[in-house]
Amino acid sequence: MSENEFYAEFESEDTQKQQPLPEKLFGKKQNYTPVHKFRGYCGGYTALADDGTLVFVKRFDSCNKKYRDAIYLNEARFIPLLAKEGITPKLLDQGLYEPLIIQPFIEGQNLEDHISHNELPSSSKTREIAIPLFKTAQKMHDHHITHRDLKSANIIIPHTGNSPNYKKPYIIDFGFAKRTGELDHLSDLFGTLNYQAPEQMMGGTVDNRTDIYAGGIILHEILTGDVPFNISNRPQLYRAKRKGPIKLEIEDERIAQALSKATEPDPQKRHQSFNEFIEAMQKRKFWGWLAPKVGL
Ligand SMILES: Nc1ncnc2c1ncn2[C@@H]1O[C@H](COP(=O)(O)OP(=O)(O)O)[C@@H](O)[C@H]1O
Ligand SMILES: [Mg+2]
Repeated sequence: MSENEFYAEFESEDTQKQQPLPEKLFGKKQNYTPVHKFRGYCGGYTALADDGTLVFVKRFDSCNKKYRDAIYLNEARFIPLLAKEGITPKLLDQGLYEPLIIQPFIEGQNLEDHISHNELPSSSKTREIAIPLFKTAQKMHDHHITHRDLKSANIIIPHTGNSPNYKKPYIIDFGFAKRTGELDHLSDLFGTLNYQAPEQMMGGTVDNRTDIYAGGIILHEILTGDVPFNISNRPQLYRAKRKGPIKLEIEDERIAQALSKATEPDPQKRHQSFNEFIEAMQKRKFWGWLAPKVGL
């Protein structure tokens, strides 16, 4: 199969088709009436549960049929594990007759929408958004789960009233996630091109440092309102990413350097964990300046 055929197949044949909302979705615990379908890869609905609560139902009706089961199983096995830690919303129910993932509907916005609806943040606001997010990603890695499709659209910033609660972001969409070291038939090539580290673009070994690269791209997006590299051609994009880390001309050097290190083409040269990434981003404390001067 050529590379183009591979991607043509992956870009689901029915992603673009407009389908009417199903009347009812049947869960194991109760039934759900869809209200609205999200634009997205796999098909998410807001729906009203029989008990009157608003839920998010992922139906996997838009994603490629060949990969549907694997994507569904990944969500079903990782969500309960990660929800315990508050990393992702709870798994409330599953489908009775078809693959369905039912989670509470989170009032808020995904980070991509949040960025496009707001002014560019100051560097302290950037830290306020990015640090809790990276802490959440670190917790995910502490559970030995590599996401492989980390991006702003897969992060929810909940709202309390009208105010975004940056302290408690959720990471969602574990369809392509894998346990560290696990070999699966969902190739490491999956994911969203702009956020992919070079090794992922080439089908090389993907590990947590691949998510760190994606974290760097998200940080770029928070800072500038957009992802870097306005290139849609895969080989050209790969070459641009291989050339070197992203250098952003911004006043806050700590953030610029942390971003640069996250996007090193060689995974060995990146931050080796989200904790290291956070540490590099944080403002240097007073003793941090003093220590070298007094020989500590
Ligand atoms: N529990 C939820 N509450 C509210 N909105 C959600 C929830 N889960 C997902 N979404 C929204 O639906 C979009 C698509 O969900 P996602 O799980 O990423 O599916 P896809 O595989 O289609 O990308 C997200 O970008 C987010 O805006
Ligand atoms: Mg998604």
